[in-house]
Amino acid sequence: MANAPELSSRIDGHRVGGGEIVELRSPADLDDVVATVALGDADTFVRGAAAAAAAQAAWAATPAPVRGVAIGDLGRIVAQNKDALARLVTREIGKPLPEALGEVQEVIDTCVFFASEGRRLYGQTVPSEMPDKQLFTFREPVGTMAVITAGNFPIAVPSWYIVPALVAGNTVVWKPAEYAPAIADAFARCIQAAGIPSGVVQLVLTDGEQTGIGLERALEAGHLHKVGFTGSSAVGRDIAALCGRHLVTPTLELGGKNPLVVMPDADLDLAVEGSLFSGFGTAGQRCTSLGVAIVHESVHDDYLARFTAALEGAAVGDPFGPVLFGPMISRRFADGFDRWLEEIQPHHRTSGSQGTGRITTDNPRDGFVGDPDKGLFWHPVIVDGVRADDTLYLNETFGPIVPVATFGDFDEAIALANGHGYGLSSAIYTNDPKSAFRFREQVSAGMVSVNNSTSGAEAHLPFGGNGKSGNGARQSGIWMLDQVTRWQSMNWDFSGKLQKAQMDVVEIEADFDFTI
Ligand code: UN1
Repeated sequence: MANAPELSSRIDGHRVGGGEIVELRSPADLDDVVATVALGDADTFVRGAAAAAAAQAAWAATPAPVRGVAIGDLGRIVAQNKDALARLVTREIGKPLPEALGEVQEVIDTCVFFASEGRRLYGQTVPSEMPDKQLFTFREPVGTMAVITAGNFPIAVPSWYIVPALVAGNTVVWKPAEYAPAIADAFARCIQAAGIPSGVVQLVLTDGEQTGIGLERALEAGHLHKVGFTGSSAVGRDIAALCGRHLVTPTLELGGKNPLVVMPDADLDLAVEGSLFSGFGTAGQRCTSLGVAIVHESVHDDYLARFTAALEGAAVGDPFGPVLFGPMISRRFADGFDRWLEEIQPHHRTSGSQGTGRITTDNPRDGFVGDPDKGLFWHPVIVDGVRADDTLYLNETFGPIVPVATFGDFDEAIALANGHGYGLSSAIYTNDPKSAFRFREQVSAGMVSVNNSTSGAEAHLPFGGNGKSGNGARQSGIWMLDQVTRWQSMNWDFSGKLQKAQMDVVEIEADFDFTI
């Protein structure tokens, strides 16, 4: 397409050309070239990190309330461009427009929250054990942060890192997903329009391999003090190991295998609605997507029948149309999903669509919206009869598939909810407070929904996982401040003499022989 923008990395606000040129096509319409991208390499990443490091002292010296105002302005600019940004998300990664609008709203919410954090960033005054001495704590920026993000939430998740990092006085080198450069470029332009100095956020467009090499070199050079990463557990482990060698604590938000437990007393229609949205929204490519439905044997058949009917009746296709879900995000995700489909075993029963695999004119789906041959559309599938040793149970399967397992007693449900080792999100459908609170206590996930889907976290609650889903770091809200700042403590002795802690402390004597 003639008018597709040519994108490249932006270092200190200047475009960095050179490198391999790749064409990015909409997964919903492979004839639609969304952008061409001049890919950077490891050097580009190191340059971006060095430039961000060079800009950090001046940004940290800008008063925090002023930084907060800039973040507020960023939120307003994003709000004014909400529709255009959402349309770009839909075009670039194929997320249905209502979900894309929700994603952009999440950026606005994040800016609104952190704009006033610039007026807080509270430290404490702490009493001293000595007279004429005062103790204080201060939040200090960590320094320069590398932000490496996935493409399934190509603007919301980056904002979860970048916005609080900036309010706290850090600078950022941001490497967005290779398949979402256009929305990344658009967000970078919003940041620029908010008046945030060009050195504060450096945009590097490169592939994963070159990012790994560049990250290592930037850490070795001392340019980086924090790494934020959202992506697969495998890459997260490598980043954690690399950061460990440089005494840098990463913030990791990794995969999920989010369980949804349906208790015998559940409102089944509600459970089905939640399963449909969390299992198949964004074509199952959210970190918070439903990973395994765990259904009590007494309601299993009824749940499965209703879930199957709901899925069969759901519209799939053009993400600008009224659909439950659109295409796979990219060819790579589609190929990966095809490999998981091969793990459907003879002991499984599938339902929900007329076929499996890619939807085409020859492998159609009823009610498809648009022309299936134009994009990367895959049949949804419910896989019943899944067991704890199945590959489909043990792994995150990023795509429109929901494994269903059955349980008899509550302990079995918990074992299935935790047994895969992930721990991002979870849900239970029940009207019994005892079940809800027992589940909350025993599930290993960082997030728990009661009578709500596994997706749909709000922008000001802690977001993050345990086990294979992360390293315990939490994003969003006040909790993210602990990722982007470090505590500095200060003591000020104005007694005019050296008062030695623990040694020069006045003692109050108690009478321990005392009895009533
Ligand atoms: C992700 O998939 O990495 O709760 C983020 C949700 C969204 C964010 C998901 N608000 O599904």
